[in-house]
Amino acid sequence: MLGNRKIAILISGRGSNMLALMDAIESGRLNAEIAVIISNRSDAKGVELAKARGYTTVVIPSRGLSKQEHEKILIAELKWHNPALICLAGYMRLLSPEFVQTFPQQILNIHPSLLPAFPGLEVQEKALEYGAKYSGCTVHFVDEGCDSGAIIAQAVVPIHDEDTIQSLADRILVEEHKLYAKAIQFILDRKWHIAGRRVLGIKI
Ligand code: GAR
Repeated sequence: MLGNRKIAILISGRGSNMLALMDAIESGRLNAEIAVIISNRSDAKGVELAKARGYTTVVIPSRGLSKQEHEKILIAELKWHNPALICLAGYMRLLSPEFVQTFPQQILNIHPSLLPAFPGLEVQEKALEYGAKYSGCTVHFVDEGCDSGAIIAQAVVPIHDEDTIQSLADRILVEEHKLYAKAIQFILDRKWHIAGRRVLGIKI
């Protein structure tokens, strides 16, 4: 595994974080190689965008399959590509404990809130409704829970009085696009270690 800088990107939708990672790699800001883009939805816009840029894309539809059946195919595909990291980028499915344990400390996710505040879905709306004055995004390791893995990096944005869900989501997304590439670079460089839940050595 040493020296392996291949990443697999898992998507379910529009794929803007995936595109940001491609931009970072193509411009030399992120020293990594995209082995494969995998989507669980054939209609994900990100699939078309990835194909248009010449990347290997694989659709493994989750619809109609049990989680176990779907993940069996997904695991086989991932093992074939042998990535150092599996980067979830708007991948809207919870992974089973078996899946997570197959790739220990190899699965990363980006989430549009400052975890542990607001895990789950529609989190920009939840932050607004709660009355938070700041939100942001979090890159974390994926564990068996929902958005509960060890935090790798975070970026903070203010919440303004006049914000809508969309304006807040847009402001957070700008930071997501910068943060994910930086966090992946640190993890691939292996200049970090874990003490309890604390991922140490990451300087972003
Ligand atoms: C991003 O905001 C990402 O953080 C979020 O979905 C969006 C995907 O956008 N992910 C989650 O909420 C995961 N629970 P994208 O497809 O344009 O990257």
